Amino acid sequence: AEGVADAVAAFGRGEPVLIHDAADREGETDLVYPAGAVMPEAVARMRNDAGGLVCVALSDAVADRLDLPFMQEALDHPTSADHDLAYDERSSFSLTVNHRDTFTGITDEDRSLTIRELAAVAADPDPAVFTEQFRAPGHVHLLRAAPGLLADRMGHTELGLALAAAADQPPAVVVCEMLDDETGAALPPAAARAYADREGLTYVEGASIVDHLG
Ligand code: 5RP
Ligand code: CA
Ligand code: ZN
Repeated sequence: AEGVADAVAAFGRGEPVLIHDAADREGETDLVYPAGAVMPEAVARMRNDAGGLVCVALSDAVADRLDLPFMQEALDHPTSADHDLAYDERSSFSLTVNHRDTFTGITDEDRSLTIRELAAVAADPDPAVFTEQFRAPGHVHLLRAAPGLLADRMGHTELGLALAAAADQPPAVVVCEMLDDETGAALPPAAARAYADREGLTYVEGASIVDHLG
């Protein structure tokens, strides 16, 4: 079904997929992994081949249990008072974190550790364990999904978590925007599809995920 079944199967194997949200939203394709499968090579692929921001999306239930706020609400600064986004109601940004066993936090080794341990916490969220294991701020951006997932919002945050749920993975996925090395703009969908073909990965449209899993 237009790549959705393939995408769910890929997630089940711990492999990444490419998700294009919609031409009338961000118009971006993110490289998305189930967080538990992210080894240092996956972080290297995200920064070399995708080039965007490496973020871990968590479900609303997990974020709630861990007391993770939306960054916009947590900031007490005039720049966060007016949250005027052109493509959606709100950004899903929450805090940034590092696992406490990291050194600087930015290396492939460090970020992959933070990301994998976030998947472990998402599988069994406990606020005391979370605080014991992570410090904020850090080098991995957390994203907080909308409560009703795809019924509420159709960002990469929710699209990725819908795939994770369908693949019986914990509610933690890594997303990173594919940028065009020539122009610096979002990589056009045709080029993202070509990358997927070249790399043996699945490319899927957000609308297909909403149709089949929403
Ligand atoms: C973080 C972002 C990305 O667009 C990411 O895909 C999450 O946002 P959204 O759920 O709004 O698509 O801005 O780099
Ligand atoms: Ca974005
Ligand atoms: Zn996005």
